Amino acid sequence: MLDLSEIESKILTQIAAANDGVALEAVRVGALGKTGEISNLLKLLGSMETDQRKTFGAAVNTVRDTVSEALNSRKNVLASAALNVRLAAEKIDVTFPIAPMGHEQGRIHPISQVLEEVTAIFADLGFSVAEGPDIETDDYNFTALNFPEGHPAREMHDTFFLPKLEGEQERVVLRTHTSPVQIRTMRTQNPPIRVIMPGRTYRCDSDQTHTPMFHQCEGLVIDKTSHMGHLKWILQEFCQAFFEVEKVDMRLRPSFFPFTEPSVEVDIRCNRKGGEIKIGEGDDWLEILGCGMVHPNVLRNCGINPDEYQGFAWGMGLDRLAMLKYGVPDLRAFFENDQRWIKHYGFRPLDLPSLLGGLSS
Ligand code: DAH
Repeated sequence: MLDLSEIESKILTQIAAANDGVALEAVRVGALGKTGEISNLLKLLGSMETDQRKTFGAAVNTVRDTVSEALNSRKNVLASAALNVRLAAEKIDVTFPIAPMGHEQGRIHPISQVLEEVTAIFADLGFSVAEGPDIETDDYNFTALNFPEGHPAREMHDTFFLPKLEGEQERVVLRTHTSPVQIRTMRTQNPPIRVIMPGRTYRCDSDQTHTPMFHQCEGLVIDKTSHMGHLKWILQEFCQAFFEVEKVDMRLRPSFFPFTEPSVEVDIRCNRKGGEIKIGEGDDWLEILGCGMVHPNVLRNCGINPDEYQGFAWGMGLDRLAMLKYGVPDLRAFFENDQRWIKHYGFRPLDLPSLLGGLSS
């Protein structure tokens, strides 16, 4: 008769001696594999008498269970030992000095920076941000904004017209200003409305102060009582916060835009002496934006009753603001992707935009 307990203790010793997964697997195959020692014992059952088969079968099964259990627990012990070795080897020393960055670090483009600053200032004044598509229909870009058909102001915009799409009724254009987002906002939101609408705009024009693609930021306030006084105050607060000066004198000149009545152009006091523009001092004036009270026709085109609601809007060039604040002489440089330029004029990502000068109280 085979000594099962001897076989069992031999296998258990092998299991205890197995020092890694490979050795343990070899022991398992030797015991429980197809031709393993225990599997071979089970094969003997076929040739045994019924009584003997019962007792021997039960005994071999007990050995098999004991061996399986021992294999499993050894496997767990080995796995956690391996993990501990890895944890010890891969320990991170958080006190280790970081690798020098500098030359690999990217820069925030001045226009992105200015956009963040403008957004932060107007957020503080209770404005949210809305956006619209760069490709607009003729209706949103012109007609709904009260440009009469064939009006010369349409030509003034040096519009990029896109080919009419098959089956499309309307002509599409690259938007010439951010004003169409006013229409989109008023057609989808109920007053009171207080939004700014930054984005890319396009006109067929190129020189030191014009590029075919540029950036504008529109502002819109619609409620029952807003008037030109509010408009002037908001713009003044904005200029002071943006240019970080105590006081910015403003001059409002009558102008014309189809979508505002009255329409106004805004100049701010500046000093151009020494070839550099300084805001908030001097005897010179600098035009910075167009604005006015939203034309009743525009309100009507958006389903807003002009006898009940009124408001004002403005549009300003973000590139121009960036040039003025950060002393960039040539607008075209913004879009040339010259790494040396962006290194000089760009901002480090961790110099987070803030209210900077803050709003005066
Ligand atoms: N859309 C005008 C432009 O591109 C700027 C403008 C003027 C926007 C007056 C306005 C506004 O909202 O009220 O020249």
